[in-house]
Amino acid sequence: MISLFSQRAFYGMIDIQSQYCEGDVDSVEKVTENTPRIRAFLREVGIRPIERLDQEIEGAFGYIKGGEIIDEMNHLFDLDEADGDSAPMYSRHQADLMEYMNSIPRLSILCSSFYDWFVFRRVMERICKYDSIFGNQVLDIGCGNGIITSFIARSFPESNITGMDLLHNPIQTARHIAESLHISNARFIQTDTPPESDYDTVVSIRVMHENMDRFAYAKQAASALKAGGHLIAFERILPSRSGPDEIQIYEMAGLSLMEQSVEHIECRIGDEIGSFLFVIFEHRN
Ligand SMILES: C[S@@+](CC[C@H](N)C(=O)[O-])C[C@H]1O[C@@H](n2cnc3c(N)ncnc32)[C@H](O)[C@@H]1O
Repeated sequence: MISLFSQRAFYGMIDIQSQYCEGDVDSVEKVTENTPRIRAFLREVGIRPIERLDQEIEGAFGYIKGGEIIDEMNHLFDLDEADGDSAPMYSRHQADLMEYMNSIPRLSILCSSFYDWFVFRRVMERICKYDSIFGNQVLDIGCGNGIITSFIARSFPESNITGMDLLHNPIQTARHIAESLHISNARFIQTDTPPESDYDTVVSIRVMHENMDRFAYAKQAASALKAGGHLIAFERILPSRSGPDEIQIYEMAGLSLMEQSVEHIECRIGDEIGSFLFVIFEHRN
């Protein structure tokens, strides 16, 4: 029916130079003692690596309904693309697309299976590696469908986790997924303003690049932290963006870099490879 979904990744489609993915880039990720737990969690959610999103959508929703969904997603992809480079990074059409992909939990899980499986694994490995960074009060900014938020909640059952996102449907889906996992220590709020300012840990996974004013975003993330708290970021790097890089932006927002944490990661998203920065900062004052 369509080939769009197998050629372009939603999170990667915003003016990024990306190379076509060949081979199994996932093999470069080290298997750790946490890998089986992460894989089991993803299986429980229903996330698995898939090659063709369009075929999976047809398989899940049937030829007619599946075809309608694919047509609508194509339409929204095209509108978003037509916005061009001058549009705000998180444009109305990009938001429309994100809302649509999260309008049905099953569709959201399929989209995440295609676009996010590799990112999820990399992020979750680092959450396990840096588990000592996580405090009692954790905020996940831009939580999307909340799969990473739920993983954090499952990993730290004594902590209170807040997932926030500016969009409605991702928050609804996040609640649905957390409920299906019987997670009771996470709540999800639709907002673009952190609800409190004394979090021990703030998590930002692939959110900064979606904000036109990256400095304002970093300042807001930093201001949600209490003194001594940590920000854990896994940010998309867009080579086309000029100005200070992601580390400099978070530093300008008053955060102190934990140098040993810095990793540059190439990761498969759909059929593309995206560049990401993993980094941890401390809020010292
Ligand atoms: C690429 S998705 C990542 C979702 C999730 N963090 C993950 O990695 O699976 C980015 C999400 O951030 C949200 N977002 C972007 N800027 C935001 C902001 N300033 N405040 C709250 N949510 C934001 C978007 O609505 C979107 O759902």
